[in-house]
Amino acid sequence: MPGYAYFRKQIVPFSQANVSIMTHALHYGTGVFEGIRGNWNKEEGQTYLFRVQEHYQRLLTNCRLLRMNPPYTAEDLTNITIELVKKENIREDLYVRPIIYTSSEALWVRLHNVEIDVGIFIIPWGPYLDPDQGARVCISAWRRPDDTMMPPGAKITGFYVNSALARTDAYEKGFDESILETRDGYVSEGSGENIFIISRGQLITPPVYDSILRGITRESVIELARNELEIETVERHFRRSELYLADEFFLTGTAAHITPVVEVDKYKIADGNIGKVTKKLQQLYFEAIYGRNPKYQRWCTPCYPRKPSAGKGRQTK
Ligand SMILES: Cc1ncc(COP(=O)(O)O)c(C=O)c1O
Repeated sequence: MPGYAYFRKQIVPFSQANVSIMTHALHYGTGVFEGIRGNWNKEEGQTYLFRVQEHYQRLLTNCRLLRMNPPYTAEDLTNITIELVKKENIREDLYVRPIIYTSSEALWVRLHNVEIDVGIFIIPWGPYLDPDQGARVCISAWRRPDDTMMPPGAKITGFYVNSALARTDAYEKGFDESILETRDGYVSEGSGENIFIISRGQLITPPVYDSILRGITRESVIELARNELEIETVERHFRRSELYLADEFFLTGTAAHITPVVEVDKYKIADGNIGKVTKKLQQLYFEAIYGRNPKYQRWCTPCYPRKPSAGKGRQTK
């Protein structure tokens, strides 16, 4: 359990950060949230928050869809997070969970005339899926709702019922993760990850209009592939047969990092081993998120005062 939480505009002991059973968001899923990684660099004794400002900017933008207008900037929320990290003093990888939700004790289903609150807490957290072994996944019978039903890119709490259905379905069938398709049968994303494949020499990912969350890890991978491997990512529709026949397949996300997929619906991806491009991207990504590549230090926000020699990691290019 965390020691502290940001709750009702202040940092309080975690045991005091409680809501009523009548809380509006508990009934209607009317909240937006984020997941942010703090990556522990042991040599430097430093926690680097990965692209924290982008995460908070996404959170604040998504609030607008739910007609919420929290009186915070991305910088305010970053500063609160740094304060919490310091108070928790977790000396390993961690995960920050901010949530903005309708906090009124009110029962009417609506987005107007309801109060909101901002909550933030932190837990220690290693990888969500095993980045070394490779995941075995299935295509879910659950489809991803599209923008005409509920915006899939907004990280709305209620939307995650769809992810939970798909993930438990995969778990009960003995798989590590579910892949969801759009209503039209295009591959969309995992329950909490974006998807990339290598097919006929191209790095391909579903486009934003295929009901995906515009992942920050996805954008980082596109940038790393372009800058470091001279590979341009193609954003286009593809169907499940192309997934079955892909040469490489990996998932990206704050929780999952870059997780290779070695099997989908019992079809082996290529020879069933982790692909070469996936491995290279994984290496580049891990160097970047732990603040070990000066070129990508701009993605990393340190939580503790820097030591004079810190942050001079290996330059890959
Ligand atoms: C449904 C879904 N897709 C994709 C992602 C990956 O997004 P990001 O890389 O910003 O964590 C997440 C995780 O936040 C997610 O919940």
